Amino acid sequence: MEVSEGLFWGCAVCTLATALYVWLWGQGGGCLAGLGAAATLALEGQLYNGGFHGVFGVLTMCCCFGVHHLIRERSDEFLPMHGKSVLITGCDTGFGHALAKELSDRGVQVFAGVLDEHGSGAQELKKHGSHRLEVLQLDVTDHSQVDRALRHVTAAQLGEGGLWGLVNNAGVLCCLADAEILPFTTFRRCMEVNYLSAVYLCQVFLPLLRRSKGRIVNVTSMGGEVPFCFFSAYGASKAALGCFSRVLRMELAAWGVKVVVIQPAGFRTNIFKGCEESKKKILQNLPSVICRDYGETYVCSMQDCLSKVGQQSPEDLRPVLNDMCHALMAPSPKARYTPGQMAWLLPLLYHLCPTVISDKLLKGHKFVDCEPAGLSPKAGSELTRT
Ligand SMILES: NC(=O)c1ccc[n+]([C@@H]2O[C@H](COP(=O)([O-])OP(=O)(O)OC[C@H]3O[C@@H](n4cnc5c(N)ncnc54)[C@H](OP(=O)(O)O)[C@@H]3O)[C@@H](O)[C@H]2O)c1
Repeated sequence: MEVSEGLFWGCAVCTLATALYVWLWGQGGGCLAGLGAAATLALEGQLYNGGFHGVFGVLTMCCCFGVHHLIRERSDEFLPMHGKSVLITGCDTGFGHALAKELSDRGVQVFAGVLDEHGSGAQELKKHGSHRLEVLQLDVTDHSQVDRALRHVTAAQLGEGGLWGLVNNAGVLCCLADAEILPFTTFRRCMEVNYLSAVYLCQVFLPLLRRSKGRIVNVTSMGGEVPFCFFSAYGASKAALGCFSRVLRMELAAWGVKVVVIQPAGFRTNIFKGCEESKKKILQNLPSVICRDYGETYVCSMQDCLSKVGQQSPEDLRPVLNDMCHALMAPSPKARYTPGQMAWLLPLLYHLCPTVISDKLLKGHKFVDCEPAGLSPKAGSELTRT
């Protein structure tokens, strides 16, 4: 079949344009990608009428806007850090711990909220040796501790700028299991720590943040956008935080407060520490009939896989730290950052694929290598016989 030259170039440019839009979407330039795609579609007709140059011109224009937009967003130029102060929750370990050190080293006054002020993480922060780093006892689910932190921050001599940033980083994953057998307390705990406490902190600290026209940075997760099997409690709590953050972003724009979401993929931190207790907790709470259906081996292997996922994840937290710093200190932060492997690609594929395909792909992404006892081929043949 003979392909006309116009059609050939048209297809080539459209393919390139599509790749560019997908990439822009992944970089957080979703709006621009959408506009570019719409412009391409609107002018596609022209292509077949010989208006190829017009299409090319518009695409070039979109590319220029895209590059300009990205350069502006990813600029390394930060606002002055001295004189700014930031409260971070969950600084005992992981991202919060590393961010507290990083920001105080760069000259920011940091209030590092910890779950246990006598724990090793808190002690390490105290020893870090920066007068700009102050450790605060802050269990985010305890309103009296949050209120005390507010009084402390309000009373601190923060200069003209007041409190510049709040990073809602504290989070728990608890245990993994099918939603049917996951203890109800796990759903409640995930919601309390990962979502409700962040809502309360925003409400309590917003009067200070509105005055400084500062930033709220909420740490969600790829698991809040892509439904991974066994992550129902954690994923739902992070999805709730994501939705809350998007609403807050629009409401607070008029006040000059920017609300940013950090949506990381997997990184090796304590959050993946397998919990021996959760095996017992799940098994003890299950009615015997359900326990028989799923089987002890299956429930136990699920918890072991948690630490396996952690071990397979990258150890270097730098991509998350860079994005957190950019979110807090860039003149024009993005609405959402997606540090880590596949962190933007997987959600994109998930939204683009028809459900029948995305469900198959995600179900195929198995964390455990055994099946519930009641679904094993042996159980099936026994069922057929009876
Ligand atoms: N690591 C990842 O792959 C990943 C991916 C996506 C999103 N995230 C999110 O990133 C954030 C930081 O997690 P991480 O990976 O750095 O794990 P992490 O090392 O376990 O950090 C979470 C911190 O929150 C603390 N915490 C737990 N409950 C708390 C409470 N009630 N009040 C105050 N602090 C509390 C934990 O203290 P204890 O250690 O004492 O429990 C821990 O220090 C979390 O919101 C997590 O959901 C992590």
